[in-house]
Amino acid sequence: MPDRYAVIGNPVKHSKSPRIHEEFARQTKQDIVYTTLDCELNGFSEKVDEFFFRDGGKGLNVTVPFKNEAFRKVTPGDISFGGVVDAEAVNTIKLVDGKLFGYNTDGIGLVTDIEQNLRFPIKNKRVLLMGAGGATQGVMHPVLEQRPDLLVVANRTMDKAIRIVRQFQKFENFTVHGIEASPYPDLAGRQFDLIINATSAGLSGTMPPLPEGLFAPGALAYDMVYGRDTPFLAFARRHGARAADGLGMLVEQAAESFFTWRDVRPQTAPVIEKLRDAS
Ligand code: ATR
Repeated sequence: MPDRYAVIGNPVKHSKSPRIHEEFARQTKQDIVYTTLDCELNGFSEKVDEFFFRDGGKGLNVTVPFKNEAFRKVTPGDISFGGVVDAEAVNTIKLVDGKLFGYNTDGIGLVTDIEQNLRFPIKNKRVLLMGAGGATQGVMHPVLEQRPDLLVVANRTMDKAIRIVRQFQKFENFTVHGIEASPYPDLAGRQFDLIINATSAGLSGTMPPLPEGLFAPGALAYDMVYGRDTPFLAFARRHGARAADGLGMLVEQAAESFFTWRDVRPQTAPVIEKLRDAS
């Protein structure tokens, strides 16, 4: 019997994860099945227990809206790994000796895509992270570990940006100029080398209210949304920046999950290419 894995979420049926993990399994000759697991909003804990303890599942990916609930349910895995405690969110669960361990591979996926696939080192760069929701919280620790020059978190609702910045000020010595929260209008007159859109604005065809002139020469604009050309990426291109969507992050976080479960590291480039061709 192949080992069973799944992605649990609501909604989940359009998830690309089964396709990605099937590709990884074929490539690395792992005998697994990977499906989607649709879950009622108030039924997460029971569904997870059923999957592992009744149906013999070996591992789960967790997606919207259950990542925080997953964090509360499981034991943090290697706590240095991906900053799962700082993220307060789990996207990967692994069953080991009858116990559920949780990891967060989102931030590692983002950093790997930016640094390795896009060949853009974050060290000493001025980074602007837009948004202060779960997506931002999930990637703060791994981004800061790359030792940017400066990390500014911009959000419409300032309270949320301030809360995140306070939480991560313990990493202040990882940056030359520190970690700041900012409203969008106050960014005017500043320049950044890397601007990451971690808001959900692209999903509704809008973008955060960015002032002009923020892209430094050679800047990279990264939108965590994938599979569509968001207004932010179009804006970035018009202003001379390189633009990348989140497809690479999606595949890299999946690869890190696969490695966590199977101890085998799949090649991501051919899978990114296949998904790009299919979209
Ligand atoms: P996620 O877990 O995906 O980060 P979330 O917690 O709902 O989702 O957060 C969504 C983020 O996108 C928030 O930072 C939100 O800004 P506010 O906190 O000010 O609401 C941001 N966002 C959504 N639509 C936006 C838009 N059109 N312009 C700017 N920010 C937007």
